[in-house]
Amino acid sequence: MKFPYNEKVLEHFRRPHNVGKLENPDGKATEGSPACGDMVSVYIKVNPQSNIIEDIKFESYGCASNIATGSIITDMAKGKTLEEAKKITWQQATEALGGLPPIKAHCSVLAVEGLRAAIQNYEEKHGIIAEKVPTTIEIVNNRLKKVMNPLTGLDVVRTNLIKKIEIDNGKVLLTIDLPSNHQFAASIREEIKEKIETLWDVKEVIVDFIE
Ligand code: FES
Repeated sequence: MKFPYNEKVLEHFRRPHNVGKLENPDGKATEGSPACGDMVSVYIKVNPQSNIIEDIKFESYGCASNIATGSIITDMAKGKTLEEAKKITWQQATEALGGLPPIKAHCSVLAVEGLRAAIQNYEEKHGIIAEKVPTTIEIVNNRLKKVMNPLTGLDVVRTNLIKKIEIDNGKVLLTIDLPSNHQFAASIREEIKEKIETLWDVKEVIVDFIE
């Protein structure tokens, strides 16, 4: 039988580097893939003087390609500045792995997006933002597209879980189409808060349920 993966991919899949969680990370993010519903979390420690990523770890809930790409991009990002790490592309990661089956491109995109989102989270928490545009419903909605609905494996916007978004003076109010005692209610609320709270002009995020 011929494996679709080359030896290097299999090696990174079997013994992935930098797997796990960092305690008190300076930046972290969980990203979901709109293509398959899988998720990846990335944690970074950053030297505030040099802006160098001193430590990085990831957890993947995705497939072998995602684990292998997570392993290689965390290797690539360690020791780089935030600016350098932001420029790592999924094509470079795939190349460093010696190639992935084309159908698996979205899996490496997911790993790279996880890294970029963790950097973005760090920058937002530290007020390093290029352009301070006021938060709009559209911006909130775009962020919510990265929050997965565990019931379906698709994001909460696509699955119509968001009933209402209101923005009022730095306060973001969201209504979710789930009862508050639903088994996933608390985790969805946490994920939404994490994604929205770091927007520079948001002071408070309130997530309500329909009942
Ligand atoms: Fe989902 Fe690869 S199929 S990350």
